[in-house]
Amino acid sequence: MKQNISASAGMDALRALVHGKSLLGPLKVMAKTVGRFFQIPLPFFRPYVVFGPEANRKVLVTERDKVLWRSTDPVTDLLNHGVLVVDGDEHDRYRALMEPALHPSTLSGYAPLILSHTERVSSQWRDGGVMDMLVEGRKIALLIIMDALFSRDVWDDIPRIWNPILKAIEFISPGAWILWRKIPRPGFRKPLKELDEYLYEIISDRRRQTEDRSLSTVHRPNDLLQHLIDAGLSDQLIRDQMLTMMIAGHDTSTALLAWVFAVLGQHPEVHRRLVYEVDTLEKPPLLDQVMKETLRLYPPIHIGNRRVAEELEFAEGKVPAGERMFYSIYLTHREPEIWKNADQFCPERFAHGRKAPPFAYIPFGGGPRACIGAAFGQAEVRIVIAHLLKHFSFEFTGHPIHPHMGATLEPRPGVRMRVGRRAVNSE
Ligand code: HEM
Repeated sequence: MKQNISASAGMDALRALVHGKSLLGPLKVMAKTVGRFFQIPLPFFRPYVVFGPEANRKVLVTERDKVLWRSTDPVTDLLNHGVLVVDGDEHDRYRALMEPALHPSTLSGYAPLILSHTERVSSQWRDGGVMDMLVEGRKIALLIIMDALFSRDVWDDIPRIWNPILKAIEFISPGAWILWRKIPRPGFRKPLKELDEYLYEIISDRRRQTEDRSLSTVHRPNDLLQHLIDAGLSDQLIRDQMLTMMIAGHDTSTALLAWVFAVLGQHPEVHRRLVYEVDTLEKPPLLDQVMKETLRLYPPIHIGNRRVAEELEFAEGKVPAGERMFYSIYLTHREPEIWKNADQFCPERFAHGRKAPPFAYIPFGGGPRACIGAAFGQAEVRIVIAHLLKHFSFEFTGHPIHPHMGATLEPRPGVRMRVGRRAVNSE
């Protein structure tokens, strides 16, 4: 049976949209009043939304052959044939090419560069100055991903690429184009072209290096970019994969880093305990719990976007072929039937290796197309947070923060913290 939206639920959803200026409000209202299966009642755009362990399992595993990742939206326009927005054999080919660089066994090799970029960015902080951890987190995450995957030190290029990257992220964020696909979108062409030129420069530099026979193979970077070149991909296809990894691989970690600082700022007792653990233990258990609980409450990728190729049947209704469908990570993570005090920050939920029921906790998606960088992203955030807490004190300035649905779920208007160098751990 198709779930119809009652007029009052529709009005409540609209009110929440206007009040919160974000789709998050209407999604919560719909989930509360309608349940785990509904259509968003927007004019011209009525995507289905499903959530909860059973629906997640269907979409991600058992009936994934009935859905497509590729869509007609700005993400596909931007990433073209990037691994995130292609299906079938094409997807499997790119994914297989990229997996070795992100395999958990390679992660320890990245630790020194993760540390050194964290030190570089934080060494610029003025003792007692107020820093926005959303901005600082982005710098750190960007330096790390570009170095780890493409052996490119972008420190000096940040002024050149910062705005183009933010524009690329804005380009794929929800906006008026959702209602009117062909709406004119001025202001993007130039920065997106600049970003492309930058990536093509990196590719051609590397091709030149690879072709230089005088250079011994020992000096040739053995990174993701090299795998793509060696596999014979065209420049255009390499650009698509690089841009995908650059955006998916740093905007998510940026959001997670910033949210961790936000929740620590809002929970001083947890913050104090975590600093104590980081100072005294090599593997502080609370750090993992804080990261997992932050990913539960504020999953950077809060929704998965699919196009339905073949009718899908859920317990509460059917989604016909041709429709747009979202599976909501955010709503799954806040289900009161699964999570006690679902809206409260409680890292102890994950203490002593406690786990959520299958498909109830899915910050990295699931199934064969689960996040390729899940292990990398978590290792990265663990190292960055531990290093920063060891060397700096952070005092939250107490401003209001709300989750904003951009390309990722971001803390807006940022996370402003007063930073101080800690004498104990600074050499
Ligand atoms: C905290 C960090 C991260 C989070 C929360 C996250 C979350 C996710 C989620 C939920 C998906 C699945 C989306 C869906 O089902 O529609 C995904 C896919 C993906 N992620 Fe991540 N991600 C993170 C870090 C990274 C990193 C570091 C990289 C790259 C180095 C990366 C690259 C990708 C790619 C390429 C895909 C598509 C995989 C495919 O379709 O085969 N992510 N990510």
